[in-house]
Parts: sequence; C-alpha cells; structure tokens
Amino acid sequence: MSQRFLRRWLRGSAVAGLLLGWTLASPMLRAGDAGAGADVFKSECAECHSPKQGKNKKGPSLFGIVGRPAGTAPNYKYTDALTQGKWIWTTDKLHWYLSQPARKANPGTRMKYDGLDDPKQLDDLLTYLGTLH
Ligand code: HEC
Repeated sequence: MSQRFLRRWLRGSAVAGLLLGWTLASPMLRAGDAGAGADVFKSECAECHSPKQGKNKKGPSLFGIVGRPAGTAPNYKYTDALTQGKWIWTTDKLHWYLSQPARKANPGTRMKYDGLDDPKQLDDLLTYLGTLH
C-alpha cells in the first residue's frame, strides 16, 4: 500500500466514522424512557397539565402536543405569547422550550416553569410526550 493511498483511506474512514457516529447518536439522544418520562411529567408538569385529550387545567391539555401548532388546544384561553407563536411543537422545539425558564423562551407567557436541567429527565419526558396520541 502506498503512503498516499493509506493516508487517503485513513481520512476517508475518519469521515465515515464521524458520519456513522452522528447518525447513530442523533436518534439515541432522544431515545428516552417513556415510563420514566411519565414520572417526570407527574412531578414537574401535572400540577398544571393533563395528558388527557380535552382536559385543560391551569395549562392546556398536552394530548398530542408533539406535532401540534402552538396555542391551539381547544377551549383553552392562551396568552398572546402562544397564540401569536407560529411554530409547531416538535421534539426539538419542546427540548429548547423546556430546558430554560418558560418566560425566557416565550416572553409574556403565563407558564410559570423554570426549566428542567437534567438532560436525561428531559429526554425521558420528551419521549413520554411523544406517546400522547
Ligand atoms: C405552574 C403551572 C405550569 C407548570 C408546572 C408547567 N406548565 Fe406548561 N403551561 C402552563 C400554562 C399556564 C400554559 C399556557 C401559557 C400561556 O397561555 O401563555 C402552558 C403552556 C405549555 C405549553 C404550550 C402548549 C400549547 O398548546 O401551545 C407546553 C408545550 C407546556 N406548557 C409544556 C409543559 C411541560 C412539559 C411541563 C413540565 C415539564 C410544564 N408545561 C409545566 C402552566 C404550567
């Protein structure tokens, strides 16, 4: 094997390795445990949110939240901070929103929540939220 070929081959496999690592890691980052996520939900969110369809508490029902446009749960009176938000709640958007104080992520919101620091708990919670359909 010539030096040049070897060098190119090594570089090629490093790139392939990176790509493979990235492809494997990205779904894994979100592969939380839904059962543990249900417990996180109970301790962090259930005071104000129900996972049941149509059941609003202090906050709107989170049934079907992943994939739902912001501020659209039926019969819930939102602040403008959410009704004027024109985004869809994807897992990534929820990750961003829930990892910091709600009022920082969404100025003007009525949601009083300081964010979830623990990345594992957050991944578990997001996996659980994804099952609410
Ligand atoms: C102290 C009460 C409270 C807690 C705790 C709380 N929320 Fe909320 N949440 C609200 C309120 C109130 C709103 C509506 C805010 C508005 O209209 O500005 C809201 C809105 C939301 C929205 C936007 C819903 C939509 O239909 O656009 C999401 C998503 C959400 N909360 C998720 C969560 C999650 C997940 C947790 C737990 C990690 C949590 N919240 C904890 C009160 C709370």
